[in-house]
Amino acid sequence: MTVITNIEDLRVLAHKRVPRMFYDYVDTGSWTEGTYRANEDDFQKIKFRQRVAINMDNRTTRTQLVGQDVAMPVALAPVGSTGMQWADGEILAARAAGKFGVPFTLSTMSICSIEDVAANSPYPFWFQLYVMRDRAFIERLIERAKAAKCSALVLTLDLQILAQRHKDLKNGLSVPVKPTLASIANLLTKPSWCLAMAGTKRRQFGNIVGHVKGVDNMGSLSEWTTRQFDPTLNWADVEWIKKLWGGKLILKGIQDVEDARLAVASGADALIVSNHGGRQLDGAESSIRALPAVVDAVGSQIEVHMDGGVRSGQDVLKARALGAKGVYIGRSFIYGLGAMGEAGVTKALEIIHKELDLSMALCGRTDINTIDKSILLPGTLPV
Ligand code: GLV
Repeated sequence: MTVITNIEDLRVLAHKRVPRMFYDYVDTGSWTEGTYRANEDDFQKIKFRQRVAINMDNRTTRTQLVGQDVAMPVALAPVGSTGMQWADGEILAARAAGKFGVPFTLSTMSICSIEDVAANSPYPFWFQLYVMRDRAFIERLIERAKAAKCSALVLTLDLQILAQRHKDLKNGLSVPVKPTLASIANLLTKPSWCLAMAGTKRRQFGNIVGHVKGVDNMGSLSEWTTRQFDPTLNWADVEWIKKLWGGKLILKGIQDVEDARLAVASGADALIVSNHGGRQLDGAESSIRALPAVVDAVGSQIEVHMDGGVRSGQDVLKARALGAKGVYIGRSFIYGLGAMGEAGVTKALEIIHKELDLSMALCGRTDINTIDKSILLPGTLPV
């Protein structure tokens, strides 16, 4: 067994262990995947200023996100079908995040339901909401998140309609898996995944199946999204949801300064600069490039977070330096989960924390709360 030292090691292991359609679902962007690649590549262009002979003792990465204490300014992003990467994946990731002291965000399109995660993990978690045409269902979903004592609601605004991801169509992505020749042939090469899946009853979209009339089998994810997601979602709906929820509200999918101003006007507690991990509008700017303008425009009025392309603690540090109070990891923890279950999510968090802590020290800083643009080399910043 190789020694695991970085997120890429976890990705390689996950690739071996997870069935192709679910691995590909995560490791993809839409259309040309240009934005997906840019999210990572643009982080690499930003350089640190190396500082020396500064006392680096007594360091801390502790801070707050939407008023909640966190061990580092990182949260686990909502990822659909997480329980298809590893049996009971959402429960395991919620536990790993909780033990580490960072928030876990449960997707509307999760396998384990809100109630199931709440019953099987002692840690409070955040809930991500997709808005469907069936508004009575959305009201119930919000009530369920409240009953489970979710400590923030993450409302996704950039997926009213689904962009095309070629691999999902080619693989016939569906939950549960449709037994085709290709899917069975691939599953035969993943015996430990199959064994674990055979041992759990959590193999459907737990928040949906049994909660929406007439839905007992959802088939393809893209078909379901087209039929059920509400393409009319708008700022009046955000107001409606804010009232229903009444707690901390985080708006996800803001890339444009105009939208950032509308997010402030909505009264939300935070916004996430995000292009959905390069999975929606291919050709959109990378998140780390979009971040500074949003921070300049609204950073003093709302907490600005970001996601997209974060594969290391150095990326977290760069985002924080450019004004993101919180940074989400999606694929980075999912690779850990697919590789090693709960231990893999913990490993991903440890890797990112260590990279963040050491890189901060090598920039001559000891407290994450003092990090600003001055740790970065000016000529290398996104303009
Ligand atoms: C859903 O959030 C997706 O990106 O597939």
